[in-house]
Amino acid sequence: MLSFFVVFLIVLIFLLFKVNKTYFILALCKRIKCVDGRPLEEKVCIIPGKTIFGNNLDILSMTPEKIFQLCRDWAKFSKDRSYVHHFYRASVYNIIKAEDAEQLFQSQILTTKGAFYELIRPFLGDGLLMSNEEKWHSRRKILTPAFHFNILQTFNEIFKEESLKLLEKLKCLQHDRVNVSDLIDEFSLNNVCETALGVKLDDVAGGAEYRTATHNIEPILIRRACNPLMYYGFMFYLFGQYREQKHYIEITHNFSAKIINKKREEFLKNNAYDIDKENSYTKTRYALLDTLLHQEAQGFVDHHGICEEVDTFMFEGYDTTSTCLKFTLLNLAQYPDIQEKCYQEIASLTDFDNLTVFDFNKLEYLGCVLKETLRMYPSVPFIQRQCTKETVLNGLILPINTQINIHIYDIMRDAKHFPEPLVFKPERFLPENTSSIHPFAFVPFSAGSRNCIGQKFAMLEMKTVLVALLKTYRILPVTPTKDLVLENGMILRTKQQVFVKIVPRII
Ligand code: HEM
Repeated sequence: MLSFFVVFLIVLIFLLFKVNKTYFILALCKRIKCVDGRPLEEKVCIIPGKTIFGNNLDILSMTPEKIFQLCRDWAKFSKDRSYVHHFYRASVYNIIKAEDAEQLFQSQILTTKGAFYELIRPFLGDGLLMSNEEKWHSRRKILTPAFHFNILQTFNEIFKEESLKLLEKLKCLQHDRVNVSDLIDEFSLNNVCETALGVKLDDVAGGAEYRTATHNIEPILIRRACNPLMYYGFMFYLFGQYREQKHYIEITHNFSAKIINKKREEFLKNNAYDIDKENSYTKTRYALLDTLLHQEAQGFVDHHGICEEVDTFMFEGYDTTSTCLKFTLLNLAQYPDIQEKCYQEIASLTDFDNLTVFDFNKLEYLGCVLKETLRMYPSVPFIQRQCTKETVLNGLILPINTQINIHIYDIMRDAKHFPEPLVFKPERFLPENTSSIHPFAFVPFSAGSRNCIGQKFAMLEMKTVLVALLKTYRILPVTPTKDLVLENGMILRTKQQVFVKIVPRII
């Protein structure tokens, strides 16, 4: 009997040992392999887990600041090679080099968003950011015209109005230490509300609550994302912050639904079904919501679909641009010579009220400053895809369900493509210097078919407010950029509140 048991044990250990070569049994996932049969370690770095369960417990209870640091530590540990870790029943392939990102961005197959995005789904629904395949294709087709050049021109008027309102607000803050968030958040949300929804935020109750609610959702999401057990809905419901999250999401959804219903009434009253395509583009103040209501009238999208898209655009259009603007203001304050160059470029512009999209497009150096800010502080520091079937990428066989993390932050700080990557040098993006930049080394808006639909919108909005600010004020440093403590979330954030000083320009 004993000998039988010993033989059984030996066979079992032998079998487990063999199976473990293909499956990481204790991490419950299939392993990534090299196409040419070489050991995986020769091609990528494998991050050892803190426990025998792969990396499943490595980020448990980590703060956003610690997660940010861990990502940098792993990149350093991998000695600048892309790396693999194992988390939540999957192998995770982490891309930190432009060369490794190229095939992925060009792929027509690897477009499905990763497991992390599932956690955002209760908030953003199946809008453009989250949807996949057929649904994504048809929505992208519907929404692309909403960013048509002619529509951007009408948005530009809104950006200018909001910029002037911001200057007014600043009159009583001159010479004081100004919290950059107080300055920018309202401006950015007003813009997206008026462009996406066609409604002035000042005219709608609940704007401040919406802002607070979106900010409160993120920490809950990050805490959930760190614990593999919390990816299961019932575990989150029983032991997570389900109720708290539901409360905040309801605030955001009610806010957008209220506006959608109000807008629909106006739309029906104005008989807007009859607007033909040509007119719709040239009509003043044509909001994204008008595009969607027009599509609803034709049966291409329903009320639920409109809510998903509006929630997506509100979130994507608000937090991303406001974050970039905050880092830009800190950089301009930190580097007075660069600020002066921007001022020289805009000094010759005509009256602010009469500036057109063409004028803003011509601001080459200001554009470089924004790009360099996005390179060093990308509003979206990482994105994720997943394999819906076994896929070959960069000489690796990625099993079905493999997660692919694309670390935009690391890709854009690669010294190979951006020498002295920690130095703020807008000149890198002058046309004469860009020919040598790898096509996938600068990807703050992602790249390929799932790139950011709002990138021109964002650049125009940011240039507009910066012109207004720099024409009137000098921005002085309070929080040095070297002291910034960065945090990884859906959006790159700073742990501390950041401040600048604003003083009138004496001409
Ligand atoms: C500085 C500003 C911005 C940055 C850095 C940024 C960055 C990005 C990135 C990296 C993605 C890819 C996300 C992924 O693959 O998971 C994305 C997608 C997207 N962005 Fe932006 N974004 C910005 C502004 C905006 C604005 C202003 C809007 C809308 C008004 C917008 C709407 C979207 C949408 C709808 C998607 C999903 C596109 C799709 O999958 O087809 N973004 N953005």
